[in-house]
Amino acid sequence: MDTDTMTTAKASAPSPVLILLGPPGAGKGTQARMLEEKLGLVQLSTGDLLREAVAAGTDAGKAAKAVMEAGGLVSDEIVINILRDRLAQPDTAKGVILDGFPRTTVQAEALDRLLEEQGQKINAAISLEVDDTEMVTRIAGRYTCAACGEGYHDLYKQPVTDGTCDKCGGTEMKRRADDNAETVGSRLKAYHAQTAPLIAYYGGKGALQKIDAMGDIDQIAAGMHAMVARAIA
Ligand code: AP5
Repeated sequence: MDTDTMTTAKASAPSPVLILLGPPGAGKGTQARMLEEKLGLVQLSTGDLLREAVAAGTDAGKAAKAVMEAGGLVSDEIVINILRDRLAQPDTAKGVILDGFPRTTVQAEALDRLLEEQGQKINAAISLEVDDTEMVTRIAGRYTCAACGEGYHDLYKQPVTDGTCDKCGGTEMKRRADDNAETVGSRLKAYHAQTAPLIAYYGGKGALQKIDAMGDIDQIAAGMHAMVARAIA
């Protein structure tokens, strides 16, 4: 869909736009899915969109595959195009939670332009604050239900019945190719060098909110919910 069509689709009323910032394993996906369920917003994870492109064997997916496996950042051009296409889908009119986008200043500026064209604005950019050491544990223990994508963890969040998804009853669980100790180091480096500067970027725009993401998942979710409810009121 081109930009004019997107503008028409979104012109009626501004819908909430939330950004989740944080290093790999901070809990962006976990919290985005909980907010999605509570508030009816749509979670948009550029990591998920890229993994779908890799699985589908598209040109973008072929270009992204090796970079993702090495823990680097996929090119701004590819990611911005993927995000722009996804934002043009009608379900995003409910409002979106951007999980893992933007990750560079170039992406943040592109998002600003796109939202301006659509008469939208960012309600809040929420930074999940965590220690690097905890990230490795969180990522190494992560797995998801192959059928519905529900996230679990070897130590922190196990299904009630071992091997069976609480949400959909699926029995096939999977782990991500880039969830290993070497790649986590590269992903953390990429975060500190290229994404952490966005905390100041959104601070300068008055959109930044910070949350301590080291505690219990449900307590963090309650804090996030209250923060988001204020931001979209
Ligand atoms: P992406 O898929 O976005 O991965 P990421 O940012 O590395 O983040 P993760 O999904 O690993 O972590 P998360 O913060 O969502 O944590 P989660 O909730 O799962 O990106 C993958 C790759 O794609 C990138 O490396 C890059 O190559 C590319 N890419 C994506 N977007 C891009 C962009 N915009 N530009 C360029 N390249 C891009 O939690 C982790 C685990 O911890 C889970 O098991 C969970 O159950 C557990 N957990 C969560 N919260 C808690 C808690 N409070 N206490 C205990 N355990 C917890």
